[in-house]
Amino acid sequence: MSVVKSTNRALVNAMVSPERESERRAALQAKKQVVLDEVGVSDVYQLGIGAFSPLTGFLSEADYRSVVETMRLEDGSIWSIPVTLPISEEQAQEIQLDDEIALVREDGVICAAMRVEHMYRPNLDHEAQLVYRTTEDEHPGVRRLHTRGNVYLGGRVEVFADERIDEFSNYFFTPAQTRAAFAERGWKTIVGFQTRNPIHRAHEYIQKAAMEIVDGLFLNPLVGPTKSDDVPADVRLRAYQTILKHYYPEQRVFFGVYKAAMRYAGPREAVMHALVRRNFGCTHFIVGRDHAGVGSYYGTYDAQYIFNEFDFDELGITPLFFDHSFYCKRCEGMATTKTCPHEAADHVILSGTKVRQMLREGVAPPPEFSRPEVVQVLMEHYSKQQ
Ligand code: ADX
Repeated sequence: MSVVKSTNRALVNAMVSPERESERRAALQAKKQVVLDEVGVSDVYQLGIGAFSPLTGFLSEADYRSVVETMRLEDGSIWSIPVTLPISEEQAQEIQLDDEIALVREDGVICAAMRVEHMYRPNLDHEAQLVYRTTEDEHPGVRRLHTRGNVYLGGRVEVFADERIDEFSNYFFTPAQTRAAFAERGWKTIVGFQTRNPIHRAHEYIQKAAMEIVDGLFLNPLVGPTKSDDVPADVRLRAYQTILKHYYPEQRVFFGVYKAAMRYAGPREAVMHALVRRNFGCTHFIVGRDHAGVGSYYGTYDAQYIFNEFDFDELGITPLFFDHSFYCKRCEGMATTKTCPHEAADHVILSGTKVRQMLREGVAPPPEFSRPEVVQVLMEHYSKQQ
């Protein structure tokens, strides 16, 4: 475990070095194993590469309580979402404090080692209420919380490099690598963009508005676990490749995937998304309408208001807030109510749910909503689903 000082923030490196890998793997063969679910696996790899800096592992009970109650770790550092390792009661009977355990993927590969420094029983409803602002199981984050196990293990992790090759591998970078890439390009100000949806005109509008005031854009779509009705990550990736080719200046955009899980925790997740992009080397972060929201659990701008609770210097990144953007037929361009005087009837606004429904029915969303090149990628995907 090492902590490397960087230009803006210290970066945790919890990866096992290649020289030690075979020795560490051999030592773990005889250890008790905990099989991680897909969220656990994605969390482990984020912890390993330092995307979740300053976290060095799964939260201790003191840190967990502090994060749930105050959005800070026990030492005062800002952290808004508990990163926990839940196991079942039965599994907990077999594990003792101070055990070294192997964290294993469902395919049987050991992805990390962990010394069990903490074992505790959380109040899940309390966590749900404070983190997700609801205890309803209809909320995908809360539902997941309730199915993941009710004993939490905490401790530092030592993570093996993810050896899996997939369509995202060419676009995967560690925070150390993105920081170096930004520096190499001479960028001093970089705006990060989180997204879990196919790119549409409003995304493009707020990205490009931000690009006017910074040196570069770090386009960082989340491609880890999402809810089942979200558009699959490989399809979104194709949509991005297409639009980048036709509509973005290559030398001002850095495209890399974020392999973490969506939590759908709205405001709290917006803070976490900002901290993670700080770790990747961004100086600014876009927060638009209902960031990381789901259903109607959060107010349109709650994910912006939450930043009032923090000093941006302390956060280490400056959020850039954007109002709900849309195409206005009378302005003949993208706008928000900050810049457009016309009636709602002149605005082309489609919800994500509506767009997915149109695509399922083989109806193309209008060009005012989505670039035709993107629509084509989405239509191809949905036509194969029928
Ligand atoms: S999210 O769950 O990753 O936030 P999405 O991919 O839809 O979902 O949004 C990515 C970013 O774009 C978020 O900051 C979100 O607030 C912003 N955004 C999405 N649609 C709009 C819109 N029409 N107007 C303004 N901001 C938007």
